[in-house]
Amino acid sequence: MSREDLRFVMEIEGKSFSNPWHLSSFEGEIENDDISFPYVMIHPETGEIIGYIIFWQIGQEVQISNFAVHPDYRRKGLGSSVLSRMLRIIKERGARVVVLEVRESNNSARCLYEKFGFEAAGIRRNYYSRPDEDAVVMVKKIK
Ligand SMILES: CC(C)(COP(=O)(O)OP(=O)(O)OC[C@H]1O[C@@H](n2cnc3c(N)ncnc32)[C@H](O)[C@@H]1OP(=O)(O)O)[C@@H](O)C(=O)NCCC(=O)NCCS
Repeated sequence: MSREDLRFVMEIEGKSFSNPWHLSSFEGEIENDDISFPYVMIHPETGEIIGYIIFWQIGQEVQISNFAVHPDYRRKGLGSSVLSRMLRIIKERGARVVVLEVRESNNSARCLYEKFGFEAAGIRRNYYSRPDEDAVVMVKKIK
């Protein structure tokens, strides 16, 4: 992900979340390149940005901080392919555990993470706003 991508990233972000990140949050991720790894998904034929994933790796621990696929391209296996690629990358970099938070009502994302072996490890009460909602903390150990 680069600054030039952010116009398109922001559009997907706005279509994907009820309380989307501000532009400055994405800029911060791009700048914080010691620990933050922001990637975009590019359509192989049109070259358009159709999704993104951002994760932090600190030592053996990885946190997925943002992840979305453009609504027009969902349910085609893209989220799965990005997630499996990310898991390969972080394993090569020595990660042992991946953690993320997901809205309790976000069944599509929770199903996807469960397919990849993430397990619910706890609840963060009122973690999200607009609307207020608990977060489910999900964890996957990397073998
Ligand atoms: C979550 C998200 C990234 C998944 O991307 P995707 O490209 O649609 O995912 P895939 O096509 O690889 O789907 C993989 C699996 O996820 C689950 N899934 C995805 N969308 C689903 C839906 N609408 N309902 C139920 N399960 C769903 C299914 O188990 C699916 O496997 P299947 O198609 O074989 O049944 C996408 O729905 C999205 O951008 N959502 C909005 C943003 C978001 O919630 N991000 C995660 C924040 S924690």
